[in-house]
Amino acid sequence: MAGRIPEQFIDDLVTRIDIVELIENYLPLRKAGKEFQALCPFHGEKTPSFTVSREKQFYHCFGCGVHGTAIGFLMAYRNLEFLEAVEELADLAGVQIPRDTTDKNLVDSKEVFEVLGEAETFYKSQLRTAASKEKAINYLKNRGISGETAKVFGIGYAPEGWRNLIDNLAKNGITEEKLARGGLAIKKQTSGYYDRFRDRIIFPIQDKRGRVLGFGGRVLDKSEPKYLNSPETEVFHKGTELYGLKQAVASGQLESLIVVEGYMDVISLYQFGIRNSVATLGTAVTATHLDKLFRHVSKVVFCFDGDKAGKRAAWKGLELSLPKIQGNRQVEFCFLPEGHDPDSAVREFGSDRFFAASKVYSLIDYLLDSLRQKLDLSSGEGKANLLATIKPFMEKLSDTTLKAVAARKISDATKFDENLVRQEIGLIPRVNQRKYINAIKNYTSRSLQEQAIGLILASPSLANQISEAEMDFIRDNLSDCNILFEVWEKCTSEDLTTGSLIERFRGTATEQILLEIATVSNHLEEGQSAVELKEVFKKLHSKGVEQQILSIKNLSLADLTEEQKQLLRGYKK
Ligand code: CTP
Ligand code: MN
Repeated sequence: MAGRIPEQFIDDLVTRIDIVELIENYLPLRKAGKEFQALCPFHGEKTPSFTVSREKQFYHCFGCGVHGTAIGFLMAYRNLEFLEAVEELADLAGVQIPRDTTDKNLVDSKEVFEVLGEAETFYKSQLRTAASKEKAINYLKNRGISGETAKVFGIGYAPEGWRNLIDNLAKNGITEEKLARGGLAIKKQTSGYYDRFRDRIIFPIQDKRGRVLGFGGRVLDKSEPKYLNSPETEVFHKGTELYGLKQAVASGQLESLIVVEGYMDVISLYQFGIRNSVATLGTAVTATHLDKLFRHVSKVVFCFDGDKAGKRAAWKGLELSLPKIQGNRQVEFCFLPEGHDPDSAVREFGSDRFFAASKVYSLIDYLLDSLRQKLDLSSGEGKANLLATIKPFMEKLSDTTLKAVAARKISDATKFDENLVRQEIGLIPRVNQRKYINAIKNYTSRSLQEQAIGLILASPSLANQISEAEMDFIRDNLSDCNILFEVWEKCTSEDLTTGSLIERFRGTATEQILLEIATVSNHLEEGQSAVELKEVFKKLHSKGVEQQILSIKNLSLADLTEEQKQLLRGYKK
């Protein structure tokens, strides 16, 4: 019975079940406008304040504040575990729960692993035998990869042509269908198959035991796409695997693991003696990656380029790390000198000066530094804003030692009393500081963020009204809009109801925040919400512009771009 239930299934299930029909099995519901009402089963009451919304697929009691999705209702009302609730709903919907049980994988995927292993052997052999092997060898030489390093990572070459792999493995009785199952052959629309990887340097992606799961392939010239990776298959999951983990683990006692972005980064670092790096596979780091990393080491170092993409990746790493820090776990952020990636940096600075040439931050320093850059700490508002902005991050951080470190640093930065900061970030119980808290609330855009989230939560499709460019602008300039961004991102990439949106965040701190917001958000007609949302975003935009101006105000005129000067002029008017 064990095995993970795919997230997509939970989503579909929540969408398929009607919460009104479900709850009707247990409570007599009465229609009241667009919603349904009953006496709340979770607290004693005489007039109904328990409300169920079909549109939102969400229930909420205005009396005692309980709320949740169909799954949440079953868990609360029937005292079920999450899995039990899902099983029950699946029965109701008449669907089977798909589970990727480990046993099944072992039996079924053996063949796929064999095919992938044979493909690896073939690609390696091509560096010796292919007609076009010279250019592949020259490419590797030019990139400074030694024969020894190439061997450690099993680097190979997929020669030019459409059927090299297919025809060669056919000699060993491997069918095109099997190759396709491993992600190595692609089915043509007409008929037949062709090799996925052609005229590319091949990097086998292995698991810790050395089994090949898939491949990355790099072009030898400037053509696009620069890298081509195996698709997701039954054995290859990008959100779980880390390139180079096998080599890192094999290199000896590991104290830390360095997370980088590229294959070539891992390989060059290794060759220059930094043998503990791994790369994500063309995707952002995931919580699963982090769990995996922390199973091997207590210290994780994110090492990214100093460019925008690198910073975004680092920020994602920060957000995912916060809830995972405990005991002696430690996370650091290493930003390389301008224009460098780990590959070029280690070649220029060598392993001994690699970190010295970069900027290395502890988790708290990186968090504080990033927030400070967006706020003007010379004003009281700015200081209050810093404290308010950092709070949601502190809520995700469970480790009290780190929280104490943070409290001292926040106090240093804002000159707020350290005890007050400790209260604010939940390190010690809060005494009544109403006046102070209200002052903070007034100064921040958090309530705007909450309004926006509330509106999107109520009608997720509204998120599509906000363009990516606008969201990026707000996110780049306002430091406290990360949850709004996450919600926006989910709602613009798929059709979700309120319930399935919240389910997406189950078990995270964000879920708690969303539930709170869903509880207090107002009930508007959809058309009205759309207008409202535009208004809120307009205000957020203005705040963003203000922040942008604050950040350039202190630069000397000579350093400003024409665009920035215009911005300043517009502001002074
Ligand atoms: N990547 C990808 N698909 C692309 C580009 C990149 O999957 N079209 C992934 C690859 O895993 C790659 C990593 O993102 O290794 C980093 O990409 P990039 O920084 O563009 O390349 P480098 O690693 O610097 O590659 P190289 O040094 O070979 O140019
Ligand atoms: Mn590179």
